[in-house]
Amino acid sequence: VSTIAASHAGLRDPELAQRLRGALGTRPRRLPVECFYDDLGSALFEAITYLPEYGLTRAEWRLLCRHSSDIARLVPSALEVVELGSGSGRKTRLLLEALARRRPLPYRPVDISAAALEACRREMAGRTGVTVDPLPMPFLEGLSAAIEMRAPSSAVLVLFLGSNVGNLEPPERDRFLSAIRRRLRRGDALLITADLEKDASTLEAAYDDDAGVTAAFNRNALARLNRELGADFDLAAFRHRALYAARERRIEMHLVSERDQTVRIPALGLVIALAAGETIWTESSYKFRRGDLAALGRAAGFSGTAAWQDDEWPFELALLVAE
Ligand code: TRP
Repeated sequence: VSTIAASHAGLRDPELAQRLRGALGTRPRRLPVECFYDDLGSALFEAITYLPEYGLTRAEWRLLCRHSSDIARLVPSALEVVELGSGSGRKTRLLLEALARRRPLPYRPVDISAAALEACRREMAGRTGVTVDPLPMPFLEGLSAAIEMRAPSSAVLVLFLGSNVGNLEPPERDRFLSAIRRRLRRGDALLITADLEKDASTLEAAYDDDAGVTAAFNRNALARLNRELGADFDLAAFRHRALYAARERRIEMHLVSERDQTVRIPALGLVIALAAGETIWTESSYKFRRGDLAALGRAAGFSGTAAWQDDEWPFELALLVAE
């Protein structure tokens, strides 16, 4: 899992710094998603995928296991795979093996975490037929780079897994799917997953686990502001909170300041006063209904070719084809 845009300069990238200033400096205070995925954040996210409470990754794994040969049958055999937010590549391996059974498969993982890409390259090492070509870039830049490398006779299959589409706000999400479509040609495909709505207590536990790993993942974003921007957040005074807003169908993750504190962020030229109980809304994770992915795809210029659901942990996998 990873982000939509970021840079190699870390949080000091001027464009990101500007957005950080806007997000933190005004209420409701927010954090750009890029803040989460330094190498430590990527490792913490990898740990989240093993949590007993976090059913998403296992549901996705079951769906990919069950349907990788269906997917292989539905896509052209001259194929190149581009994965947006590969993380360690653990769950993708199986699908790639099914796709590479027919002919050699170029695989281009796009991720801003170099550590995640290195783990991904190791994971694929020695897999027959899969050649890994990592792209350490923001998603859309990476997709454009991969498209420039495509063999003219090959179709491109884009993977956007991990229910990462749910971390985008709806307008941003629609723009992002359209931006993917614009880079593709007719007949290229997008394989995408989404977590489906389920009861609030199951969802809240998934994002607020007993071992505190998700809390650590969330807090690491502020720890990075301390490390990279010289900020002085008192991390011990922030509590992780995950709330399911059923009407908006999203999990909202917050860091709640437990006392009044004034935080200085010298590299941003920012001083913010947080009252006791005030929150920084760090991320949202939207939940979906069966068939939503095909509808989102249609709005962006894809037709829904197939969709599969997991019943143990309601979750959807959809194959969309560019029209
Ligand atoms: N897209 C996944 C989800 O929404 C992974 C994820 C992104 C996540 N940010 C997160 C999981 C923050 C836990 C906490 O579940």
